[in-house]
Amino acid sequence: MTFTKKSANTVPITDTVFKVVLKAREDKKKNGDAVIDATLGALFDEDGKFVTLKTVFRHYDEISPEVKGAYAADFTGNPGYREEVYRWVSGPADLSLAHSVIASPGGSGSVSSCFDAFLDPGETIILPEIGWVSYQLMAMQYHLKVRNYELFENDKFAINSLKEAVRDVMKTQDRVVLVLNDPCHNPTGYSLSYEEWQELVLFLNEVSEQVPVILVDDIAYIDYSYNLQNSRNYMSCFNAFTDNVMAVIAFSCSKSLTSYGLRCGASIVLAQKEEDVREAEIVLEKTARSIWSNIPNAAMENFAWVVTEAKEPYLEEKEKYINLLKQRSDIFLAEAKACALPIYPYKEGFFITVIVDDNKRVERIHEELMRRHIYTVTVNKGIRVAICSLPIRKVTGLAKKIKEVLDTTE
Ligand SMILES: Cc1ncc(COP(=O)(O)O)c(C=O)c1O
Repeated sequence: MTFTKKSANTVPITDTVFKVVLKAREDKKKNGDAVIDATLGALFDEDGKFVTLKTVFRHYDEISPEVKGAYAADFTGNPGYREEVYRWVSGPADLSLAHSVIASPGGSGSVSSCFDAFLDPGETIILPEIGWVSYQLMAMQYHLKVRNYELFENDKFAINSLKEAVRDVMKTQDRVVLVLNDPCHNPTGYSLSYEEWQELVLFLNEVSEQVPVILVDDIAYIDYSYNLQNSRNYMSCFNAFTDNVMAVIAFSCSKSLTSYGLRCGASIVLAQKEEDVREAEIVLEKTARSIWSNIPNAAMENFAWVVTEAKEPYLEEKEKYINLLKQRSDIFLAEAKACALPIYPYKEGFFITVIVDDNKRVERIHEELMRRHIYTVTVNKGIRVAICSLPIRKVTGLAKKIKEVLDTTE
């Protein structure tokens, strides 16, 4: 007999990150600064301090308890927040599509509610084979099957693998839902070029002559793009969508505002027809109301304030950290090249991933690295190095250390 429902998945979550984080913490108590901890997916400064942007939290701290304690104005989010999110995310792309913004608890809430809104249990969702582990869990929770696509072919986006996945799913399903985590893909740091996006949109349009297509674009790390000004340009490709394609952009304040714990994000629904957007909005609003009800009022108010009243100082402060990420990644990439450490094609973002095709070997390399006081995170077909949490002095020399382990581990 069990108390949970028959279809519940009762296998405990194996959180590959937090287990290693604890190990690293223990090691630091014994070996101090000799430990290299590249596990955490949050920004840390050069002194190893967790980064919280002053331009974000100074104002947040001034918000009155009445505002902090109050319910949001609407289950879909506060009107000002919804407007500013739309402007912030898509503004520079100049979209001509019908749109709606539904507030969500972080990017997680957005992505997860899309899995639920667009597919029935037993249907298949298309996911990247190397990606954020939560996608798999979300699929499981909604009883969805998963079809993976490969990410790279000759260091470019493997559009052919994605096409194959879509065509396979279309054989048995009357709709297609696919997830892209772009730009600044977790964990490889890849971003599609404008041309790659154009090709993808052309393909989705072609497919949409037969079935409706829903593209979920997870942009959790977009505000750390190295070419920030042009980071939204690719969205203008969406203007060419046929009536049968919808995009939902999953936005998160977690990284953009260094406010991971404030649980604030949004789904930006885009399509040609107003009525299709409205239908998705209704369904997503019901998910909101039935699961999390509303999003923290002060978190939404603060976002709207930061991106209007404090936009320039906020961008300036954040830019310092983008530059820091760039310095760290430049060092790692140059050293990886010099010692022939194989890495996935990194362009920007919080993580760099070392290529290891065999997952059993991934485990062995990961263990050996820990024996040498280097803490990383295992991912499918690779070892993730979180340069976001590693000071320059520890990034320096790291590629060679990892290469030595690769060379000596079967
Ligand atoms: C790829 C990706 N998407 C979305 C998220 C969502 O984070 P949150 O729910 O905190 O916004 C994360 C967080 O780690 C992520 O790595």
